[in-house]
Amino acid sequence: MKWKLPWTTEETGKLPQHVAIIMDGNGRWAKKHKLSVSRGHRQGTETLREIIRHTDDLGIRALSLYAFSTENWNRSEEEVAALMQLILDFFASEIDELDEKNVRILILGDKSRLPEKQRETLIEAEKRTAGNTGLRLNIAVNYGGRAELVKAAREIAALVRDGSLSEDEITEETISDHLYTRGQPDVDLLIRTSGEQRLSNFLLYQNAYAEFIFPDTLWPDFTVHDYDLALDAFIHRERRFGGRQEAGG
Ligand code: FPP
Repeated sequence: MKWKLPWTTEETGKLPQHVAIIMDGNGRWAKKHKLSVSRGHRQGTETLREIIRHTDDLGIRALSLYAFSTENWNRSEEEVAALMQLILDFFASEIDELDEKNVRILILGDKSRLPEKQRETLIEAEKRTAGNTGLRLNIAVNYGGRAELVKAAREIAALVRDGSLSEDEITEETISDHLYTRGQPDVDLLIRTSGEQRLSNFLLYQNAYAEFIFPDTLWPDFTVHDYDLALDAFIHRERRFGGRQEAGG
């Protein structure tokens, strides 16, 4: 049976084009259930699969997920190893279905510091899906928003130095074009689960005009229904981008 959209055609037209998610609360979920933190991350991966499927079903253009930040290296060796293994397991089990669904995978972050197996798996997933034209699935691994801006600044400086770009030609678009997400719309909706209300260095430039929603639910408990509630709240928000509401609007 075809899955039925919970919204009218007009509301569906107001769905975000780009959703970013900070998947927070795996550790607290594990503690609550007296399980290891690794088990919490594994449960979080189940949520991730459902949310990706639903995002694709809704026809949303881009989904960015914060899987591993540059600060996450400071966690215990055991937890880092568990997260690295989950990344491998996730691609091994999902890549066929994602490719079949025309999903294009992009890794946000510096892959050079990752263990070889993970690096190769991620590069292979990007290559295999590079020609796909459906959902843009961005997975942030060893990602930091400030580091991304430093990388952009260096690339632009190099263009100015070699004469292919003048200082006056640098615009906001130039910066967007040197981010990992180049060619994709800015983030419209940022969701961070578990009640924390911080951006934690995620997509700093791309989130400039995003709406933020902070559900209390821990990530492993976050359901497709909770996601729909967040999307519904977004649909009914008034977005002004610094302007004023249109008369009568
Ligand atoms: C935050 O929870 C979550 C993370 C640091 C990792 C998120 C990763 C996954 C959901 C799975 C791996 C990703 C892929 C792509 C397979 P936390 O541990 O900080 O939770 P806490 O704040 O309750 O301790």
